[in-house]
Amino acid sequence: MWCNLVVVLAAVSVTVAFPVEPLKGGEIDRWFVQKLDHFDLTNPKTWKQRYQVNGTWFKGSKSSPIMLYVEGEITIGPKNESVFLKHYGYLKKYAEEFGAICFVLEHRYYGESHPTEDLSVENLRFLTTQQALADVAQFIVGMNKLYQFQPTNRWILFGGSYAGSLVAWARLKYPHLVHAAVSSSPALISTVGQREYYEAVKETLASYNKSCAENFHQGALDIASLLKEPKGADIISKKVVFTYGTVDPWQAFGIRNSSDPDMPVIKIEGEAHCSDMGDFPPGGLSEAVKTARSQIMGLLGKWISE
Ligand SMILES: *[C@@H]1O[C@H](CO)[C@@H](O)[C@H](O)[C@H]1NC(C)=O
Ligand SMILES: *[C@@H]1O[C@H](CO)[C@@H](O)[C@H](O)[C@H]1NC(C)=O
Ligand SMILES: *[C@@H]1O[C@H](CO)[C@@H](O)[C@H](O)[C@H]1NC(C)=O
Ligand SMILES: *[C@@H]1O[C@H](CO)[C@@H](O)[C@H](O)[C@H]1NC(C)=O
Repeated sequence: MWCNLVVVLAAVSVTVAFPVEPLKGGEIDRWFVQKLDHFDLTNPKTWKQRYQVNGTWFKGSKSSPIMLYVEGEITIGPKNESVFLKHYGYLKKYAEEFGAICFVLEHRYYGESHPTEDLSVENLRFLTTQQALADVAQFIVGMNKLYQFQPTNRWILFGGSYAGSLVAWARLKYPHLVHAAVSSSPALISTVGQREYYEAVKETLASYNKSCAENFHQGALDIASLLKEPKGADIISKKVVFTYGTVDPWQAFGIRNSSDPDMPVIKIEGEAHCSDMGDFPPGGLSEAVKTARSQIMGLLGKWISE
């Protein structure tokens, strides 16, 4: 019904009408039907991926951007509670500045987004980066249709850590859908070993359960032998900004160097993993994070209008 209204309004006005609070019966979680296996045409199975949308800051013009926060290996939040009240504060700042509509998408197999009835080894084969990227692409296509966005309503993706890698790859793989990406503290370089990381995780596990830690260690060795050769961060893209904190151990797996102004790297002095994505702490943001955010704001301003 609401879609019909949009068509009528769109026909008489230059600006497209979008709902500010597209809620149904007070429910806040929304669901998008995804294919279980994007790469097997003979597999008809589908599942429901959780997302939330917030149009509070949306200007609704033909060129208003769409900001999508791609979540990683974590829930987006408690069931049916607005994720915008407690989290994603920094996203609101960007949305406010550019009059954007905001989406937050949960990753398959995390939170309330269950593609399969259990986590058996057999079913976990659908938990791959390739499938997750295809989820993002299908989601964008679906939302463009549902909300009748124009090609001039550009999608800007945000993500941190593993999801930082996802948004950079999404921009690379689906440039016709993803206009730009902010990739915070990504883990893009997979090397054989990742020794420091595995050691740290093994130690933590061993303090709970020695046998579990041993199993983990064996798993890490297996992965290392599967990754026959080191893979470089061979991302060459445009309109992607990478950030990293100088005290983040993960920085070794990210991108710290770029001479391309359309693929810049922002170094955040004295800051930890993904600290540019945090909310606004009571004591205020550090100068380094403030500077990084205003640099990102500047880049987005430039890219949105390109
Ligand atoms: C979701 O929350 C809203 C308000 O917070 C409430 O009105 C609605 O009944 C809830 N829906 C479900 C399915 O829990
Ligand atoms: C949208 O964000 C505004 C501002 O944070 C908040 O007041 C409102 O409850 C949010 N609505 C939804 C559906 O998340
Ligand atoms: C410790 O881990 C092993 C698997 O490695 C598991 O079989 C065992 O139940 C765990 N013990 C406890 C106390 O959780
Ligand atoms: C960045 O690149 C320059 C020149 O290639 C190199 O000297 C420098 O060590 C690099 N910095 C980092 C942090 O990788």
